Amino acid sequence: MDVRSDMLRRLRNRRGGYSLEQPFYIDPDYFRLDLELIWYRDWLFVGHDCELPKPGSYFTVQIGAYPVVVVRDREGMIRAFHNSCRHRGSRVCTAEKGTSARLVCPYHQWTYDLDGRLVFARQMADDFDASQFGLKPVACESAGGYIFICLAETPADFAPFRAMMEPYFLPHRLKEAKVAFESTIVEKGNWKLVWENNRECYHCAANHPELCKTFPEAPTVTGVQGAMEDPEIVAHWEKCEAGGLPSTFRIADDGQFRMTRVPLLRDAVSYTMTGKRAVTKNLSDTVAEDRIGSLLLYHYPTTWNHILGDHAVTFRVLPISATETAVTTKWLVHKDAIEGVDYDLAELTHVWTETNDQDRRIVEENAFGIHSPAYEPGPYSEIHEGGVAQFVDWYCRFIEPRLSESETPALRSVA
Ligand code: FES
Ligand SMILES: [Fe+2]
Repeated sequence: MDVRSDMLRRLRNRRGGYSLEQPFYIDPDYFRLDLELIWYRDWLFVGHDCELPKPGSYFTVQIGAYPVVVVRDREGMIRAFHNSCRHRGSRVCTAEKGTSARLVCPYHQWTYDLDGRLVFARQMADDFDASQFGLKPVACESAGGYIFICLAETPADFAPFRAMMEPYFLPHRLKEAKVAFESTIVEKGNWKLVWENNRECYHCAANHPELCKTFPEAPTVTGVQGAMEDPEIVAHWEKCEAGGLPSTFRIADDGQFRMTRVPLLRDAVSYTMTGKRAVTKNLSDTVAEDRIGSLLLYHYPTTWNHILGDHAVTFRVLPISATETAVTTKWLVHKDAIEGVDYDLAELTHVWTETNDQDRRIVEENAFGIHSPAYEPGPYSEIHEGGVAQFVDWYCRFIEPRLSESETPALRSVA
């Protein structure tokens, strides 16, 4: 049986409320289908507007087989291109980030303007038409300080996400923030295990002593169920909304993204060991109130986020192989906040650095056990793992119809 039919059969026979069968977590052929049918089709968070402060600022990202460069052009617009030279295919931008007046391929110096046009190609034939060899564009949108790209030829409509997300995020002014610190860890586990772990706090009390000082483990906070019936959360929404901050639980019809604001424990205002703020300057000049808890956002398959009054912590998930996933964490603060004056970097990053490392170990142990021939799907806790079930349902619902399509749609290919 070919791998598509095999995956389809397993999806159709799947037992709801249970973890997936082994190949979904370890099989390289299943991983290739995840790339082709999810990662090469859906909108992906890649970085923040504030990481591209001026024309010529760029960063690079690798999505499966696709190297991509994201750049701010001369007009200030953020664009994304396939990072593959139109001469003989070399990577044009090799650094993770940088600033350049033009994008110059290191191989033979073909030179592209920031809008992707080829403006210089040394000693080509007289009839060489440079206009035919611009960098291939990748669909790119930014919303509320978050840059998303989509590799598909015909991307899904980005507007519903923007419409839901921006009212929640614009007050926090992430476009004007700065990244105080970032870290990337590679977890030896499938990207879906990283997400499953993220979507529940059933494991928190036993594994996250630092995070549990401030972050509630209640399933109404981490999951997708019951928030409307939790009086503490509803009271928090009312308080924050009275202060002009949209806060209630909202989720996309297809479950791909969700946002809600949740209170932290007791009188905590930030993810520190004391619960006190980590940054003396507020993240946003327009949000003065301290006790706003955390604004949570996830967008499958690339990002989950916590936006606090004094800083924001954002996460980006990128798949490397069937059994490796890169998780990049960024701590954002007000652009004028000064390290050593307004915040201590070690204090700012301590809780999530520890939490990330604990989660890495959890995911790796989970993956280790799933490799056993004795592994079989197990039941999720209805009380604590509604979020995990929701993530797995989303995955299955997205990939199954795409698997059934007879042929793979052409990927974006025209400059
Ligand atoms: S491959 Fe880029 S200039 Fe030759
Ligand atoms: Fe965790």
